[in-house]
Amino acid sequence: MTRLAILFTLSLVLASPLRAQDDLFDFIPAGGRSIVERLLDRAPALADTLTQPRDAEAWSALLDDPAYGLDDWTRRTAAEYLAYAGAITDPADLPWDGRDMTLARCQSCHIVTVVVTQARTREAWLGTLNKPSHVEVPLSEAERGQLADYLVVNGGLPIDAIPPALRAGGASY
Ligand code: HEC
Repeated sequence: MTRLAILFTLSLVLASPLRAQDDLFDFIPAGGRSIVERLLDRAPALADTLTQPRDAEAWSALLDDPAYGLDDWTRRTAAEYLAYAGAITDPADLPWDGRDMTLARCQSCHIVTVVVTQARTREAWLGTLNKPSHVEVPLSEAERGQLADYLVVNGGLPIDAIPPALRAGGASY
């Protein structure tokens, strides 16, 4: 084996546990951070626009351009994320989005399925997060708003969309 081949094989071995994890959660729709990252790859000039804060409606109108190629759900997810993010001066350092929060904060007491299969209004999501069982989850008010916005659009996944490993027996409460 050449040195390059060894390095390549080693990188596959090292990367695989992480990749396997990523794959398991691929069914959870993209959040605003990764949508915006993709848009920036395709249209780097967008970075200048991101420096100015706007509300979700203004972001949605701005992103409603065929050049960006976003469907309604993706556009709404991105627009609400950008409204929460505020002025972004460093596009390499985007704040975390509702999907990131779901994966980081909503799996320690029950599986993520409990969360992503629920179809709820924003008020209902905020209500769940304010229950005694959830009030201690470390997320700020603004983050809770972003999480709720993300889940209103992207939650309610049908059970067929959930990998079998995440379908049953997940609640430990
Ligand atoms: C500290 C433990 C804990 C964490 C972390 C946690 N949950 Fe829960 N979750 C519970 C418990 C306990 C229940 C069942 C009792 C209840 O509903 O209050 C529950 C139930 C739920 C339910 C179903 C019942 C309901 O209230 O609708 C949803 C939806 C939910 N959690 C969403 C979330 C979300 C979203 C997050 C991430 C922000 C999260 N959970 C993180 C403890 C937790």
